[in-house]
Amino acid sequence: MIDPLDDPAATVVRFPHLKHAPATARNRAPIAAVLSEVLPTAPCTVLEIASGTGEHAPWMARNLPQVTWRPSETTLAGLAAIEDWRELCPDLDDRVHPPVLIDAARPPWPGEKVDAVYTANLTHIAPWPATKGLIAGAAARLGQDGLLLIYGPFNEGGSYTGAGNAAFDVDLRRRNPDWGLRDREAVEELALAHGFTIERPRTMPADNRLLVYRRM
Ligand SMILES: C[S@@+](CC[C@H](N)C(=O)[O-])C[C@H]1O[C@@H](n2cnc3c(N)ncnc32)[C@H](O)[C@@H]1O
Repeated sequence: MIDPLDDPAATVVRFPHLKHAPATARNRAPIAAVLSEVLPTAPCTVLEIASGTGEHAPWMARNLPQVTWRPSETTLAGLAAIEDWRELCPDLDDRVHPPVLIDAARPPWPGEKVDAVYTANLTHIAPWPATKGLIAGAAARLGQDGLLLIYGPFNEGGSYTGAGNAAFDVDLRRRNPDWGLRDREAVEELALAHGFTIERPRTMPADNRLLVYRRM
């Protein structure tokens, strides 16, 4: 049987109501490789903030068998898009929970403790209060040793990490002056202030980073 997650571009041709972001198909394997390195090997729960199209949720659950994934978005339309992908993978029902409404910028978020909070491509496509709320909200939902994992493009040492990111930043700020690439060091400062230790940031394809913070 064809797994609808194998080739999402082909799946959206068969099911045109699905939302699809091609970048998720490119970044999912490198992200999963880091998650499998840092997450517990025992059964664990990951809360995803800003799940977007909802494609990462079932794919990560499929490829990280110890993980129960809890997707979230900010609007009912966003939740519906995530549900559409969930419905295609009924075998994952018990490990991909129905999505919940969470605005990162408005912590504390409802719900119980989780082992990790993960987000991809949120910090630069939302005003800075979303990043501040992400860190405060994650700190409240994680116990000792809990992980906050933030994927996306970041500046380092006051510079872009690649020419593509420079052009991307200009475009983001043109679309919304409150958006734009964040300084990795500024995000780390917030994390330290909320009781996280900073682990080695992982260098990812296309000049992205996966920031790894652990709750003390
Ligand atoms: C570029 S998309 C990334 C989606 C997905 N994580 C991915 O990597 O494909 C940015 C997402 O952030 C969400 N978002 C924007 N502001 C947010 C906030 N304050 N709290 C939670 N999500 C937010 C948007 O709804 C959108 O789905």
